[in-house]
Amino acid sequence: MAEVTLKDVDKTNWDACCNLKLSTKQGGLVAPHMYTIAESEVEPSFVPLAIYAGDTVVGFAMYGLDPDDGKYWIYRLMIDVDYQGKGYGKAALKELVKMISRLPDSNEIYAGYKPWNNVAAGLFGELGFERTGEMLSGEFITRLNVTRQKQILEG
Ligand SMILES: CC(C)(COP(=O)(O)OP(=O)(O)OC[C@H]1O[C@@H](n2cnc3c(N)ncnc32)[C@H](O)[C@@H]1OP(=O)(O)O)[C@@H](O)C(=O)NCCC(=O)NCCS
Repeated sequence: MAEVTLKDVDKTNWDACCNLKLSTKQGGLVAPHMYTIAESEVEPSFVPLAIYAGDTVVGFAMYGLDPDDGKYWIYRLMIDVDYQGKGYGKAALKELVKMISRLPDSNEIYAGYKPWNNVAAGLFGELGFERTGEMLSGEFITRLNVTRQKQILEG
């Protein structure tokens, strides 16, 4: 598998990010990337990232410090339909968690996914995220205790 890295969205890759696609069934799971990039312009703590496999942009993610609750959230995570099922999503989520866990006061990380999104449930669960029991905007909320799960992150 090509090495998975996360890079800032800039003038070299924003177009490739905006052209990433999901399957018809996955439509609506992630907001359009152009919207997300615009959102990050007005929310300075939101960080959009291009997911690379080697030199190819295969996915897109965004994390940020929520201005309302002061917690770190993974707001977006997707892998282009043509590159799914190759381990890139899992590798990208691991990198994302490592990146966030190096930031100050990042003892926990939150994320949400639709109740029927079994792939996301499996992926987040495998990396140690646990359901909090809450729902927000029609999504199950899941939380990673970074300190407790450090051994998983390093695996
Ligand atoms: C969720 C997503 C990022 C996973 O990316 P991916 O590159 O396909 O995932 P990986 O290849 O790393 O696989 C991760 C795990 O999911 C499983 N998986 C992947 N695609 C699957 C599918 N279609 N059906 C069942 N299991 C699947 C893999 O077997 C793997 O499990 P394992 O570690 O036990 O082997 C991708 O499916 C996606 O972009 N989905 C749409 C957007 C989304 O749901 N985002 C997350 C919530 S915001």
